[in-house]
Amino acid sequence: MQDRERWSTRTAFIFAAIGSAAGLGNAWRFPYMAAQNGGGAFLIPYFIALITAGIPLIITEFAIGHKFQAGAPIAFSRIKKGWESLGWLTITASFVIITYYSVIMAWVTDYLWYSLKAAWANAPKDFFFGKVLQISSGPGELGGFSIPVIIGLILAWGAIYWCIRNGVRSVGKVVKWTVPLPVIMLGILVIRALTLPGAIDGVNFYLNPDFSKLLEPKVWASAYGQVFFTLSLATGVMIAYASYLPKKSDITNNAFITVFANCGISFLAGFAVFGTMGYMAFTKGALVSEVAGNGGIGLAFWTYPEAISLLPFGSVIFSLVFFIMLFTLGIDSAFSLIESIVAGLVDKWGWNKKKVVRLTCLVGFIISLIYATKGGLYWLDIVDKYINNFGMVAIGLFEVIAIGWLYKSSKLRSYFNPISEIKLGRWYDVMIAVITPIVLGGILIWNIVQEIIDAINGKFYGGYPLWAIIVGGWLMLAVVIIISVILGKIKSQNNLGRKAN
Ligand code: TRP
Repeated sequence: MQDRERWSTRTAFIFAAIGSAAGLGNAWRFPYMAAQNGGGAFLIPYFIALITAGIPLIITEFAIGHKFQAGAPIAFSRIKKGWESLGWLTITASFVIITYYSVIMAWVTDYLWYSLKAAWANAPKDFFFGKVLQISSGPGELGGFSIPVIIGLILAWGAIYWCIRNGVRSVGKVVKWTVPLPVIMLGILVIRALTLPGAIDGVNFYLNPDFSKLLEPKVWASAYGQVFFTLSLATGVMIAYASYLPKKSDITNNAFITVFANCGISFLAGFAVFGTMGYMAFTKGALVSEVAGNGGIGLAFWTYPEAISLLPFGSVIFSLVFFIMLFTLGIDSAFSLIESIVAGLVDKWGWNKKKVVRLTCLVGFIISLIYATKGGLYWLDIVDKYINNFGMVAIGLFEVIAIGWLYKSSKLRSYFNPISEIKLGRWYDVMIAVITPIVLGGILIWNIVQEIIDAINGKFYGGYPLWAIIVGGWLMLAVVIIISVILGKIKSQNNLGRKAN
């Protein structure tokens, strides 16, 4: 067995973790979530969610990776015999996510090019659906490939492969650029936005506190969902990354730094997004709520480009800055998923890492072609919804049960406290064993109940036909589970005869 790869510096690890956490989601998900769930008041449930779930969970994932020195599958098999499949669930879910995340990266790549000539002219929305995606009539009609998306996809996968080709060595070098660069770009966009007329109305829309919202359970569920999503939990990424830390490494402080940097980026993004929306409202003589859209991919590919096209000068520069920001935000999230998959495979079978990286990228590319068809957007939408609302939440729940009850959180704490700069008290044990499972369980049940109510009313997600929901949602989840269980049952030299500690 070769020696395990190592991060060259502590900063390389922290940057890689921030790079994974800070992704496309930070640019639109947090700002819109805050705006819709109480504005400034949303920060209260958000902070509570960070303290009761986000921070304990990321510390747990760092600690698992560091202690067991392996990607998620082998790490979980060492935590509890028979639990290896939980690790494989995080890996197969990562694989599902990367196949569509890479397609969003493909669109962003295309838009780097389109920015140069403001190709969307006066109709960004029609341009996106008509010229770029060449969208078909529904999920039942794949309608062949969209050429611009295929080209973007080849470039995006090329970039992902290039970043990760030499494992954590090349990743360490890449994140030195792809983490600070989007922050600088974001700074430029914030300054531009806040110096535009009307910006203050946009910021008001974003942060004006409405404390009555704190009485709605939905607002709390959103806060927990957002924290879970933004920290890239339950995909095995943080476990894999922490497994490359040298023996004497801080755990808790690294986690705090990662969390605060990531959440700071989200908070800042709100000023850029809504400052610019305030300006668009001002120019059109409309209300911010009328022009802001509802976030999501719409923000990146038509709402924001439209707002930018109204700028008095420098439209090309600012849209370029925006898409470079999105590209650098997204690329390190994308390759972190590959690293998680590769770590899982290599640690179990001891295969040559470079070959596994190449093969994973190749298979990932081939499967991502589904979403590069003209009907691909519909499938992307369905798969994204089901893997996140059901898959990731369930995996997170199993994780805290495994650590909190089977392994015992106090035991993990007595492992990471001595090597860490910040020592955690008993509250950590209570969070992992009681609070986080209750919250994640609650969200999961809430999502399932919602789904059943909708089904009874004959309403399916996004207005898609039932068969599409079954294939892209439930069948996809079933395949994820079956593959994970099978992979967990196969024996290899690495998961045989190891003790739990
Ligand atoms: N955290 C990412 C974002 O905010 C999205 C994400 C969720 C993710 N889970 C992930 C990225 C796992 C990489 C790996 O955009």
